[in-house]
Amino acid sequence: MTDELLKVVVQKREMQAEAVVALDLVDGAGNALPAFEAGAHIDLHLGDGLIRQYSLCGDPENDKVYRLGVLKDPSSRGGSVAVHDTLLEGTELMVSKPRNHFPLTTDAKHSILIGGGIGITPMIAMAYELSKTNQRFELWYCGRSSATSGFIDELKSAPFSDKVHFHFTADHGGKRLNLDAVLSGKSEDSHVYVCGPTGFMEWVINTAQEAGFVDQSIHREFFNVDVEKGGNGFEVYAQESGITVTVKEDESIADALKAAGIKVQVSCEQGTCGTCLCDVIEGIPEHRDVYLTEDEKEDNDQMTLCCSRSLSDRLVLDI
Ligand code: FES
Repeated sequence: MTDELLKVVVQKREMQAEAVVALDLVDGAGNALPAFEAGAHIDLHLGDGLIRQYSLCGDPENDKVYRLGVLKDPSSRGGSVAVHDTLLEGTELMVSKPRNHFPLTTDAKHSILIGGGIGITPMIAMAYELSKTNQRFELWYCGRSSATSGFIDELKSAPFSDKVHFHFTADHGGKRLNLDAVLSGKSEDSHVYVCGPTGFMEWVINTAQEAGFVDQSIHREFFNVDVEKGGNGFEVYAQESGITVTVKEDESIADALKAAGIKVQVSCEQGTCGTCLCDVIEGIPEHRDVYLTEDEKEDNDQMTLCCSRSLSDRLVLDI
């Protein structure tokens, strides 16, 4: 990751649905912004140390705008409320350069993009990209109702609108999309991309696995994960810093290291973004994040410091 931040200004702000705001962020002088790939996100620095990540949902070919969609969630940890309440047109803020933990694969013959609720945002950027490069894809947008779902008009008028399918449960007597039918017979040559609330993601991932998709063909971007906190205390030796810390029962490794003066980069603090990823030199991590794949977790050579803990009494970390 990079420490370098960009100053941007909110050029346009538009309510898309009851609680979804779309924001267009631009360089104040009208210069091009650093390029981004479909699936990328940026960190918004919202003041008082609050940093939150949001997927870019504009056309990656447009290098003048970072477009975001943010759902106001009063039960969240403050990020979305701060975005809704403080980011008015003309507001300046600092953002990170784009980073991509959710890239499109280059070898899919067909891509199935599935967005649940505000999880539609990275799928929109992916659809622009796949459409521009003439690749085969379909986009499924699932939500509760059209009144609570943003970006509908944009998707209906997009150059790829013929690939977009809407499924709002309110229009189907409360029934979910028939995902078996969507995925059936496609596991050989297709890749699935999913983003949305945790329960929705688990449903899509499980259904894809049952339909024969292998793990490498199921790409996921989690948000709003309820990560388990706390556990047994243990010791961490930060090898590069030459410092040993004790991680208390109710403390994260990141917090224990920070209290000892060691710089740790964190962002989501719920195991979804990978910002705090660190190499493990010795010891056995207890992985609690959803960022690493199951295979990567089994390797036990890296871990997230914001939420994962230790199965051994001591960890040696490369920090
Ligand atoms: Fe995002 Fe740790 S800060 S995974």
